Amino acid sequence: MNESLHIPAHIAIIMDGNGRWAMRRSRPRTMGHQAGLKALRTIVEHCGQIGVSELTVFAFSSENWSRPEREVSRLMELFMRALDKEARELHENGVRIRFIGDTGAFSPGLQEKITRATSQTTGNTRMTLNVAVNYGGRWDIVHAARKLAGAAVQGLIKPEDINEKLMTEQICLGTSSDPDLFIRTGGEMRISNFLLWQSAYTEFYFSSVLWPDFSPDELDKAVAVYQSRERRFGLTGEQIGERTA
Ligand code: FPP
Repeated sequence: MNESLHIPAHIAIIMDGNGRWAMRRSRPRTMGHQAGLKALRTIVEHCGQIGVSELTVFAFSSENWSRPEREVSRLMELFMRALDKEARELHENGVRIRFIGDTGAFSPGLQEKITRATSQTTGNTRMTLNVAVNYGGRWDIVHAARKLAGAAVQGLIKPEDINEKLMTEQICLGTSSDPDLFIRTGGEMRISNFLLWQSAYTEFYFSSVLWPDFSPDELDKAVAVYQSRERRFGLTGEQIGERTA
């Protein structure tokens, strides 16, 4: 990573590989999630240090409900504990926490902690951590479309007013810049229904490292690869050259 080059302002991460990390140590999968939380703590801190202003992580997908009941309930317990301890520490470090996804499906206790962590940290400006829980990119798009359709039915907008800007305003993270860099750990090379709308021009980086082992050095490697890419946003390389000249 070259600190004098552009540092991605917004990084999105699919933190994959917790289960395999634990299984390789003959430990229950939940241990992998605990180790994953520790890795997340280190990565948030490192992002703050190198000047990343926003980090969005996939903590629980809409599809994760189908995992064994025991794993789901252990994950919920982990979230509950994390929302007490980690939220306090993140707040002390000036990090704003936001949650994206259909949080209404969680227990009232967890929903209350989510609301509290969000409101407690809302004024923090050093960095933003977006945690995607019960989130799916298609759900996000459908949800936004439904809101716009509702507004059209009420006569607040006309169907022909619907454009990318209006959709973006309704979509999760609509007030943020799109992720510059999307990292997936754990060796799989797919997007798994994460930030479908928001990643239209995002650079992808796939790492075979399992999430609990994803260290600051690994993040720096991802940033270095990002820095070596030319982002064209549909333009030609020559046009980009003229713009930056
Ligand atoms: C994917 O690994 C990981 C998850 C489904 C959970 C990720 C959650 C954390 C890291 C804890 C974060 C906590 C908060 C409060 C933000 P996997 O289980 O699919 O791994 P595998 O592919 O090896 O089975």
